Amino acid sequence: MCPPSHFEVSYSINPWMEPEKPTDTPLAIVQWDRLRALLVELGHRVDVVPPRPGLPDMVFAANAATVIGGQVLAARYRYPQRFGETPAYQAWFAEHGYPVRQARFVNEGEGDLLPTGARILAGTGFRTDHRAHAEAADHFGLPVVTLHLVDPYFYHLDTALAVLDHEEIMYYPGAFSPDSQTLLRELYPDAIRADRADAAVFGLNAVSDGKHVLLPQAAVHLTESLREAGFEPITVDLSELLKAGGAAKCCALELRDHDPHAGKAPN
Ligand code: ARG
Repeated sequence: MCPPSHFEVSYSINPWMEPEKPTDTPLAIVQWDRLRALLVELGHRVDVVPPRPGLPDMVFAANAATVIGGQVLAARYRYPQRFGETPAYQAWFAEHGYPVRQARFVNEGEGDLLPTGARILAGTGFRTDHRAHAEAADHFGLPVVTLHLVDPYFYHLDTALAVLDHEEIMYYPGAFSPDSQTLLRELYPDAIRADRADAAVFGLNAVSDGKHVLLPQAAVHLTESLREAGFEPITVDLSELLKAGGAAKCCALELRDHDPHAGKAPN
């Protein structure tokens, strides 16, 4: 995770970002720190990457890379406003001894590449280049399922779909092309389906450890469905970061050190 010390909305690269509206950086820091503390309370180790000035979106650590089995596929951002984040995160990976593969095609890390137990669900349409999906499959040696995003408000896969545990997901069908909706129904017949209202408050930008699911309080239907499905929803308020089009999942990049071929992989 990376604290939002330099957070602001000074440019617009998604429909949520309105630079003319004020942001409250100290409040963003308080909200972010609550998320960090919650994850620690739940028993997760949280490493903090030093924030750099001039990179207001650097708080969205999930976009920096995809890490599976200790292997890192670095992000290649779509927009120049975020290019400076690449060296900042790569410095951290290098210092911590992770081998990093430079990406050939645009991919925005876990924004669009979501590992499940058996495969990587991969979004395209707004940010990540379709060709990056094959690159990820090749690098990690895992099957990749391409999903086409069609609604600009849900420009990253992690705004429209969350991996709950190895085989369970929740998603908002309306964010996907008809073909991708069919595919999701076939692959995950028992998935929790969210409505647009829950998706619009970033209910799907949730962090799950397979039991606890951290999501905004405003996602009321989703919270109920999660409870019915046996999960423990925990609400987090990230209203400041929402102004940049991000919420809980965007703030946390998961370091999957485990070899996915060796059995149970944490999500
Ligand atoms: N302002 C950022 C952007 O548009 C938000 C990124 C949100 N991150 C995410 N994983 N969905 O790039």
